[in-house]
Amino acid sequence: MTMTYRTPARTAGSERLYRTACELIPAGVNSTARARFSGWDPYPLFADHGTGAHLFDADGNRYIDYLLGLGPMILGHRPPKVTAAVVEAIQRQGTCFALPTAAEAVVARKIISLVPSVEQVRLCNTGTEAIIYALRLARTFTGRRKVVRFEGMYHGFSDGVYWSKHPHLDQAGPEDRPLAVPQGPGMPASAGDQLIILPWNDVAALRAAIAREGDDIAAVLTEPVMCNTGCILPEPGYLEAMRELTAARGIVLIYDEVITGFRLGVAGAQGHYGIRPDLSVFAKGLGGGFPVAALGGRRDILALVADGSVSMAGTYSANAIAVAAANAALDELAVPGMYEGIYARCGRFYDGLQKVLHDARLPAYVVGVGPVLQVWFAKQPIRNYRDAARHASHEMFRLWWEGMLDRGVLFHPGAFENLFVSFAHTDDDIDETLEAARHAAAQLPAHG
Ligand SMILES: Cc1ncc(COP(=O)(O)O)c(C=O)c1O
Repeated sequence: MTMTYRTPARTAGSERLYRTACELIPAGVNSTARARFSGWDPYPLFADHGTGAHLFDADGNRYIDYLLGLGPMILGHRPPKVTAAVVEAIQRQGTCFALPTAAEAVVARKIISLVPSVEQVRLCNTGTEAIIYALRLARTFTGRRKVVRFEGMYHGFSDGVYWSKHPHLDQAGPEDRPLAVPQGPGMPASAGDQLIILPWNDVAALRAAIAREGDDIAAVLTEPVMCNTGCILPEPGYLEAMRELTAARGIVLIYDEVITGFRLGVAGAQGHYGIRPDLSVFAKGLGGGFPVAALGGRRDILALVADGSVSMAGTYSANAIAVAAANAALDELAVPGMYEGIYARCGRFYDGLQKVLHDARLPAYVVGVGPVLQVWFAKQPIRNYRDAARHASHEMFRLWWEGMLDRGVLFHPGAFENLFVSFAHTDDDIDETLEAARHAAAQLPAHG
């Protein structure tokens, strides 16, 4: 008998832990993305430990890990230098002081020197928090109240932005002027009134919204690559047009680089595409697996924090663990040649995967940029959320995911999530993954 994810003997430990957890923890997990209803059906794997590019589950199964904690493990699991720096900080300093420490300015200087648009920077704990601060700053700076955000993106779970991530199409309104659809109940309707939801990769829709309501728009908030509806790249000229249109109307352009920051390059997506946003938010790539986020950008906007008008509070902000982790991670990421290596490895990965899908005659293709990618099971190109909602096959993705998991390759079961590659993945890991992909693809229903 072939052992699969669903074979009870193989993941019996995870199943047992899940049953216990469900008695004590709602849905048995501590984040929506890990829940059964987010694809981890019949139950999530329980992690035991990770080492480099590999994760071991509670039953001792070993996986090549492209889930990577949904992004933070950019240096692999337990990266030795980051781990040592954190241990050293705890032993030498302690963890939390409600006072500044010398190392905070060291991190700030590193971020500022690596990311040209960042003139000053504040640290906090999560991307969700940093986005809240960015919007508060943009509203105060401009004296306006509305924020443009794009259908299909995710900017954290705060009431102000947790709208229209993946709305049902029958609730989402017209394609060029989508309605604001709350993620779920309990969110104040007034928060939705502050948002203008637009299709991404659509210059005309953005131009029209700015022409219509520009005097009321404080910020345009965007991921520079749409990484929360699979992986969708910006069409040529789109990011440039967005920069021009916002600058012309004094609208603050906020890049949510929670996924792309320190991943597409040491200067993030903005470095990769050569755009200078007004404010930027970083998180997952910054801390080598430890919780830390940053909000940085123009000095004249951040002056509103400096003069006390806009408050950015936080008991745990810039705690010694976060600062030590970010300092050590940034030193590793700033080593010359780091990203050339991972781009080369990922190029080989994309090409190999594309060939596997093609040889198996699957209606599927790979989209990615450097160490973030996704396989689309679709016959059409996907350029925004509506395309994805209409054309991407979740059923095929699910079969693909199970086939890969059964062969020791781990990524999120959601077609709208991503695969992440770390600096710890080796050529052997990629080869092993491609071999697994060949077998998994052969089991999927091919097209005509
Ligand atoms: C683009 C983007 N922004 C913001 C967030 C929220 O970050 P956090 O989970 O650290 O609050 C995420 C999380 O996945 C994200 O992908």
